[in-house]
Amino acid sequence: MHVSIEEARRVLEDNAQAQVLRFWDRLNAAQRDGLLAQVATLDFAGIARMRRMLDDKDAAPALGELRPAPVTQLDPAGQREARRAGEQALRDGAVGAILVAGGQGTRLGFEGPKGAFPIGPISRCPLFAIHARKILALERKYGAAVPLYIMTSDSNDADTRAFFVRHAYFGLQPAHVHFFMQGMWPALTAEGQIILDRPDHIFMSPDGHGGTISALRAAGLIGDMQRRGLRMLFYFQVDNPLVDVADPVFLGFHASREAQISVKVCTKRDPEEKLGVVVVRDGRSAIVEYTELTHVQKHATLPDGRLQFRHGSVAIHVFSRDFLLGQSEAVLPLHLAHKKVPSCGDDGVPVTPTQPNAYKFEKFIFDVIPNAERALSLEFDRNEEFSPVKNSTGEDSPATVTRDMVRKFARWLEASDVTVPRQADGDPRYCIEIDPVYALTAEDLRAKVSRDLRITGDLLLQEAP
Ligand code: UTP
Repeated sequence: MHVSIEEARRVLEDNAQAQVLRFWDRLNAAQRDGLLAQVATLDFAGIARMRRMLDDKDAAPALGELRPAPVTQLDPAGQREARRAGEQALRDGAVGAILVAGGQGTRLGFEGPKGAFPIGPISRCPLFAIHARKILALERKYGAAVPLYIMTSDSNDADTRAFFVRHAYFGLQPAHVHFFMQGMWPALTAEGQIILDRPDHIFMSPDGHGGTISALRAAGLIGDMQRRGLRMLFYFQVDNPLVDVADPVFLGFHASREAQISVKVCTKRDPEEKLGVVVVRDGRSAIVEYTELTHVQKHATLPDGRLQFRHGSVAIHVFSRDFLLGQSEAVLPLHLAHKKVPSCGDDGVPVTPTQPNAYKFEKFIFDVIPNAERALSLEFDRNEEFSPVKNSTGEDSPATVTRDMVRKFARWLEASDVTVPRQADGDPRYCIEIDPVYALTAEDLRAKVSRDLRITGDLLLQEAP
């Protein structure tokens, strides 16, 4: 797409954003082309929505009347039944996976896509390897492809694709792996002005994981899902290596109850844990982000002392393909965050501020939930399936994630009657890692590992080459 300088001037002036061209006279031809190309991508209707939201940002959020959402716990018989249905869908080749990896990973502060972060406790394999090898293991186990749709953004798309090529797609068939880019949009000052981070460049950031469905559609990938006969899409985030990708129980639960979207939920660690909670709002299912709950709502307890809003979503969902298709043009609400954004002073010199100076806007994928006629929540055990890499140290950091991986693998070994040496504090004495292709589940491991295995040092179980 291209716009001329005259068109750009007109549209920017009409939208009170003339400052975007304030350094025009000192730009060279290539810089001018670059800036005009960026202007051509701006969605001024979206920016107008952002500005309206800024005007109202101090008003209390209109959350409506909230109740905790009903949550299903499956008993062993229910799990078996759901597993059967989910396994059948996998065998039928009716399941795909959507991996969202377009975020900027600012808290982790890692150079490169977050999926390239080395997380294997022994192998140091990257997050992407773990996810891809789970898909490969599923494909082998059920004898059908599980197409993988990976969302990237402008800031990491080329690096992500190159990473997959360099690692030979971790064994997956490239024909079944699709990358698609989410949208980017500008940040605004408190006065609603678009920010330049260089005289010739508008600061842009990804539009949030809520951009997934429209980006899938724009890339023609909902059509690809239809052509492949996929009925269900398992949705997950790049930062959680414990995730049970395309878990047959969850798939079967979703399919047999004819849900349009299903959400895995766990009990929040504490009232302030940064998880959105599942609710019924004004009669519709929804997730409310932790930033949007009041202190009173976060801390409200039931007579038995449990939190009233205790079921947190960890962004593991199943979508029915037809629901995705129906939502591809849905207009999702915006969420804003006050952030530090590099910006140019009047002298054109870029400055990184020490205090938040801008509002960034994001769409959230779970905001499609109220549009569903049938949205269900299933409880899961967070020790088994959730430990995300968010920060470089402390909670939800590489140290806690590898610890949780090792603990999980130790439990699997013990469930296979293997003795795991433990330290005084109860943690395994040695590092343990199990490649998903060696064993995808505790049951797979039990069928494979020798009961006579003696663990006398770090243990990496993987397929013989
Ligand atoms: P987070 O909200 O934790 O963001 O994303 P992040 O980018 O990983 O890290 P911070 O907040 O900058 O430190 C949760 C998941 O959603 C994806 C991320 O890649 C991650 O898998 N995501 C987030 C996107 O794909 N696009 C976005 O615009 C935002």
